[in-house]
Amino acid sequence: MKNFSERLIQWGTKEGRNALPWKEKNNGMFDPYKIWVSETMLQQTKLAVVMPKFKHFMEKFPNIEKLANSSVDEVISVWSGLGYYRRARNLHKGAKVILNDRQKVFPKNAIDWETIPGVGASTSAAISSFTNSERVAILDTNVTRVLSRRYCLNEVNSKMKEKKALLSLAIKLLPQKNSEMPLYSQYIMDLGALVCKPVSPACERCPVSDDCESFTSETVELYPKKTKKILKERKLTWVLAMDREKVILEKQTEEKLWKSLFVPASNIKMKENKRLPRKRFFRSYRLKVSNCDLTLDVWKRECVFDKIKLSGKHQIARKTANKKVPMPKILEKILQDSSFWILSS
Ligand code: ADE
Repeated sequence: MKNFSERLIQWGTKEGRNALPWKEKNNGMFDPYKIWVSETMLQQTKLAVVMPKFKHFMEKFPNIEKLANSSVDEVISVWSGLGYYRRARNLHKGAKVILNDRQKVFPKNAIDWETIPGVGASTSAAISSFTNSERVAILDTNVTRVLSRRYCLNEVNSKMKEKKALLSLAIKLLPQKNSEMPLYSQYIMDLGALVCKPVSPACERCPVSDDCESFTSETVELYPKKTKKILKERKLTWVLAMDREKVILEKQTEEKLWKSLFVPASNIKMKENKRLPRKRFFRSYRLKVSNCDLTLDVWKRECVFDKIKLSGKHQIARKTANKKVPMPKILEKILQDSSFWILSS
């Protein structure tokens, strides 16, 4: 029987994701800028969502100079819709580091990639295996699931000891030849996403099921063991100062949550010290954000805009605007729920 990496690569050549826009080669090489941007987008977002966003991002920032020399607000605005905006801020910071401190030379190995803002262990391994053919193991959620099933591993959470054990198993499976690393890395992630799926894994289509311990013992569904994350309870109140067409927002600065995005303005004042119109309770939302179980109480304050004392920090989002104000996904939903928002991009 062929070894793991041989079977995986043979499978991937036919079944893997082989037409990715960031994998167009130039002189036989991948473009590290495109690979870095795409891997950052793929950290918390599915490939189907990333595809159009990547294209749009490359139109706006076709190279590292353009990215580094844009304002962070422009980058955040182009990122809108992808969520987890810290990734956009890190890309912008990283572009400045690579352009200004490193004379536009991209890191040549995974350890060095990890010094770039926002690039963690798994992303650095992915980037470097693609761009430098480095023999390093990726341990993202997809690959971790493949390994936990292959070796019937009970503990695959982020505790250091288990990570080390997992990493040494992952390294043993790597192909011997560096030149095979770009394909191997892509296909092991593809195997996790397309075959060894979290729910209803398609073992009948798996090229490496013959020596998969959970498959041969018919225990695939038991792995990876589900662990419940304990989230902190948090409460937040938003008051939407709005009329039928507009809502007043302001940029989130102090709060960690949704930093740099526009959220409902918190301190609205009326001209001539008049009293604010009454606020009315709209709805409560429950959501999980940044390790928090958040209860968000939303109120509405119907306002006549002429009478409001607006300041420079306020941004008015209009129902009919053709440029989207970067805002948390939950706020887009709230505006839709309140029949205010018709999305236009
Ligand atoms: N997830 C992270 N990186 C990926 C890639 N290059 N292809 C598919 N899924 C991924």
